[in-house]
Amino acid sequence: MSEDQSLNLVFLGAPGAGKGTQTKRLIKNFHFKHLSTGDLLRKLIQEKHPLGVKAKSYMDEGNLVPDSLMIDMIKTQMHQKKNIIFDGFPRTLAQAVALDEITHIDKVVFLEVAHQEVIQRLTGRRICKQCGFEYHVEFLPSKKGSVCEKCNGALYQRDDDQEEVIKKRLSVFTSLTAPLIQYYEGKLLRVQAMGTVEDIYQKITQGLGLSS
Ligand code: AP5
Repeated sequence: MSEDQSLNLVFLGAPGAGKGTQTKRLIKNFHFKHLSTGDLLRKLIQEKHPLGVKAKSYMDEGNLVPDSLMIDMIKTQMHQKKNIIFDGFPRTLAQAVALDEITHIDKVVFLEVAHQEVIQRLTGRRICKQCGFEYHVEFLPSKKGSVCEKCNGALYQRDDDQEEVIKKRLSVFTSLTAPLIQYYEGKLLRVQAMGTVEDIYQKITQGLGLSS
């Protein structure tokens, strides 16, 4: 894809489906701007920004942050209108309608994953406080135990990666976000998101007609 082409993508999927993993790979290889609402919210929380303070209680309980806050937040991030990957937004019908008013969406990648797999992926996830690299206690443990192999930063577990909160996030996905699958029917690329990260990435790039 060249810089003068335009492709706006939404990544849809349950918590832990691999939205962040796959979109971060795509932005490394193509000219996309990455807009992850989860990452933006966590940054605001770290900065003790009033919106972050407000959002934290919703996030810690596995609930969605109110639509009005999320839509306003996305509007402030729209410095460009093309070649954007929306990761984790929209998550409700109201957000999808608002996004259609902000910009045109070309394709929606829906990562399909079994909920049992999500629980295993997320309960074992550990993240480096310093560089953000993600480990897994079983599948990808740090050789240095509770510190990062790459930068010696401390590893932490996200507050919402506790099993009970993950279950809540999954039920919120089913009731509020899954209806978007129908909303985006004509634009949907369904991808089975079980298997290796590389195989899933290949399915996505092929499905989107992107070649590295
Ligand atoms: P957000 O940060 O968006 O979290 P999420 O979508 O619930 O889930 P994750 O980021 O955990 O999953 P992911 O699909 O990105 O998977 P990842 O690639 O990281 O949102 C957090 C909270 O913020 C929400 O609950 C809500 O409160 C709020 N929020 C955010 N956006 C909002 C919105 N629009 N409206 C309202 N509220 C909003 O992978 C997960 C793990 O699995 C990683 O450890 C990874 O290494 C591993 N993994 C990935 N792929 C594979 C694979 N193929 N095999 C094995 N392991 C894998």
